Amino acid sequence: MKLGQFEVSGFYTGNSFELLKLLPDNSIHTVITSPPYYSLRRYVGAQPIVWGGDPNCNHEFVSDFCPNCDAWKGVLGNEPGWKLYVKHLVSICAQIRRVLRPDGIFWMNIGDTWSKQQSLEEIRDKNVLGIPWRVAFAMQEDGWWLRSECIWVKPNAMPESVKDRPTDSHEQVFMFTKSNRYFYDWHAVMEDAESEYRKPKPGIPEGWKQSFLTTPPTNFKGCGSNEFVGKRNRRDVWEINTKSYKGAHYAVFPKELVEPLILCSTSDRVCGICGAPRKKIIEKTDFGKGDSNTKYKDDEQSNMLRLSSTKQAYREHGFENPPAPRVVGFESTCEHNDDTGRAIVLDPFFGSGTIGEAAQENGRFWLGFDVNPAYLTQQRERTSQLSISMLTL
Ligand SMILES: C[S@@+](CC[C@H](N)C(=O)[O-])C[C@H]1O[C@@H](n2cnc3c(N)ncnc32)[C@H](O)[C@@H]1O
Ligand SMILES: [Zn+2]
Ligand SMILES: [Zn+2]
Repeated sequence: MKLGQFEVSGFYTGNSFELLKLLPDNSIHTVITSPPYYSLRRYVGAQPIVWGGDPNCNHEFVSDFCPNCDAWKGVLGNEPGWKLYVKHLVSICAQIRRVLRPDGIFWMNIGDTWSKQQSLEEIRDKNVLGIPWRVAFAMQEDGWWLRSECIWVKPNAMPESVKDRPTDSHEQVFMFTKSNRYFYDWHAVMEDAESEYRKPKPGIPEGWKQSFLTTPPTNFKGCGSNEFVGKRNRRDVWEINTKSYKGAHYAVFPKELVEPLILCSTSDRVCGICGAPRKKIIEKTDFGKGDSNTKYKDDEQSNMLRLSSTKQAYREHGFENPPAPRVVGFESTCEHNDDTGRAIVLDPFFGSGTIGEAAQENGRFWLGFDVNPAYLTQQRERTSQLSISMLTL
């Protein structure tokens, strides 16, 4: 399938700032990426480009700045100050917003760093720069909806030599959207609520939770199986080990990190005509009109049934929510009633191609950009079922 001049699924070498401009408006279902972090490293293949200034100026660069128009020549992540980095990253993200469908989600994984005092903005040395939140605020000002700050906790984080602060072992994954309404399949990424069961509340007759777990109450209309008992909406703190990948000298995305993002941001099939996602039809659950201010009687059985008939009762007794309802079908979100298409996942800083592999395994199309053509072999290995196109700008 063609998207502008790109074949999906495919990897293209070049500066994503330029490549993004070649994509059609509103064409991508979700973008999941980890851009170069501020002041961390210089990526092979990243050629300096001119940022900002006057496009008609005949720049004369002095220490990478043009004194006539204030343009800066350099590589994303290597800016002399964080303000300039934030500005450049937000300007790339404006292209991401243009190509994202109005119902799409943009997930950005970004890490922080400490001031080394060479910053132009005069934050004294050893200060946390707070880059992720500075980027997030600037994105909001630029028109994005910031819907969630997720924390990726890395139990196997690299040890640091510091002894005057805790070792850094987390990064942010921000969820940005283009509109206040968008596609999000919470059901696809429900997580185990097991921990909820381990919090006995005082006064509950011994054993009733256990019997509930194995046999859902029969008066629970719509809950035909106990398949979902003990599931809950996904939380925003994720404990996932970092991964390295042969040949890549930076941390790559762990698949466990990105797979749920693909699953909650795209439907398994989309409209083949306009690309609209299919929404799950979820069985409605009737919670009844039970009284949540119940007092226990001696009769354990009748208490259990009465309690389970109210949503509030679940909460009061250690469950966060009643059993999640089941998917009973799909509905299209456009007028075409077609389900022959597939969602497209874009990663404009593709690296070793984790997104391509995860998207492909889940039946989604993907598109990857990276400045470094050396990753082509790795990407081919990871996504070998599909032919890979390559375009160098
Ligand atoms: C943090 S890595 C991404 C790793 C990736 N998530 C993975 O799983 O392998 C950032 C990537 O951005 C690429 N890169 C840096 N500047 C770029 C630019 N201007 N355009 C496109 N790619 C760029 C680097 O070559 C590097 O592969
Ligand atoms: Zn100039
Ligand atoms: Zn349609």
